[in-house]
Amino acid sequence: MTDHAHHTYQWPRDQMVPTPETDLSLDQINLADPSLWARDDMDAVLALRREELPITQDEHRSTGSPFWSLTRWDHIAAVTSDSTTFSSIHGVAAANEPGDAHAASDTMIVMDPPLHTKARKLVNRGFTPRQVRALAPAVDRRVEAMIEDLRQKPTDANGYAHTDFVEDVAVRLPAAVICDMMGIPESDQNHMVDLTSRSLNPNGYGIHRDEVPTIAAEIDAYGLELAQSRIDNPTEDLTSLLVNGQIADAALAPDEIGAFFRLLVLAGNETTRNGLSHGMLTLSEWPDERQRWQDALGRDDEEDVAWSGSEEIVRWSSPVIHMKRNATRDAVIGDPESGEVEVAEGEKIVMWYTAANRDHRRFHDPYRFDILRSPNHQGGFGTGGAHFCLGANLARREIAITMTELLRAFPDIDVDGPIEKARSNFLHIITALPVRYTPT
Ligand code: HEM
Repeated sequence: MTDHAHHTYQWPRDQMVPTPETDLSLDQINLADPSLWARDDMDAVLALRREELPITQDEHRSTGSPFWSLTRWDHIAAVTSDSTTFSSIHGVAAANEPGDAHAASDTMIVMDPPLHTKARKLVNRGFTPRQVRALAPAVDRRVEAMIEDLRQKPTDANGYAHTDFVEDVAVRLPAAVICDMMGIPESDQNHMVDLTSRSLNPNGYGIHRDEVPTIAAEIDAYGLELAQSRIDNPTEDLTSLLVNGQIADAALAPDEIGAFFRLLVLAGNETTRNGLSHGMLTLSEWPDERQRWQDALGRDDEEDVAWSGSEEIVRWSSPVIHMKRNATRDAVIGDPESGEVEVAEGEKIVMWYTAANRDHRRFHDPYRFDILRSPNHQGGFGTGGAHFCLGANLARREIAITMTELLRAFPDIDVDGPIEKARSNFLHIITALPVRYTPT
């Protein structure tokens, strides 16, 4: 964990926010190095890479295992759009080696077409825009309950209540929503959240990587048990969908049901959690943008502003920092301007979505946080292709509703202490975010 101060930024709208600069030189940068990711100037480090060395190799010091690092939007999009040449089956984190056990093992995020296509079809029905719109009242209820709890907090001599945004908002909301969707009873939800957090961020919990499969097995077993109960008593939840679904024209085997269940709870929790925390932090850092959001409350375009603000929060924070693929054959990446690079069959290609999301070739004034940015086809949910985030619409809605209702209920809510972030180059994790607000 590392402490960070909280700054505020203001730039006149008629001036571009300058590209940040770092005092590191290219030969001091190894994106595999976790301590690098504790730095406050990572945006600058990635900018240097993206402009000067957009396709290069980094290396895991512990294993000596190299990987290609991509930092420009177009190069990354070319990889995600071609899952025949760039495979997911060896794991999607830079650290994953073929044959490793990891949190995502055996789930659709580590499958290639055509198997992936069939797996995804099975759960797609639960995540269509229509289905997600239908969930809005359930998300609203969860947000209301959370705000009600925040109102009950004791106040200090100045009338402020103090809380940790991560614990009381960011961890709670997405977990409750995805657990509701899966049909996990309230009494088991905390336990499930705990298991998913540990399996995705073992370092943060002092757990050895080798223990991750045991935690994964526990989640699977829980999912399977729930699934069994849905065979006898089918409901409208996603778990019922899994039991009644078929992949590759055969019924799902028990281990497949367990793995699916695990992917959905994992993917829906830690990601949206960090999106929410970064949302709170970023709005505190950019007071003019926060004011624009607040000014829209009660206006006809309130929902549009919230929706667009939520998209910008995901671009800005990139809760998933990277994804990896492995080349299935020798292939060329790049373009004449950047230079072309030949990658060999089997080599790893790491796509730094967080860098693509600041690429000026894609975004005007990329270092400005702009809640009304338009267009904003951003890469926080992936740059497209077969594995584009299944839960994007759900996550957008959760962030939009939560931030809107928090600003409405507590107009003065603000960050008021040191922020703690985990050292990870995979997930952009905030572990502590102290806030204060007047709980009226
Ligand atoms: C702000 C929150 C979220 C972010 C930033 C995020 C980001 C991502 C990213 C980057 C990918 C991989 C895309 C690729 O490499 O092409 C992904 C895949 C996925 N996400 Fe999300 N996600 C979020 C929320 C959710 C939620 C709420 C769910 C709900 C269950 C979810 C379910 C999934 C699933 C199942 C996949 C795998 C899709 C596949 O392999 O076809 N995500 N997400």
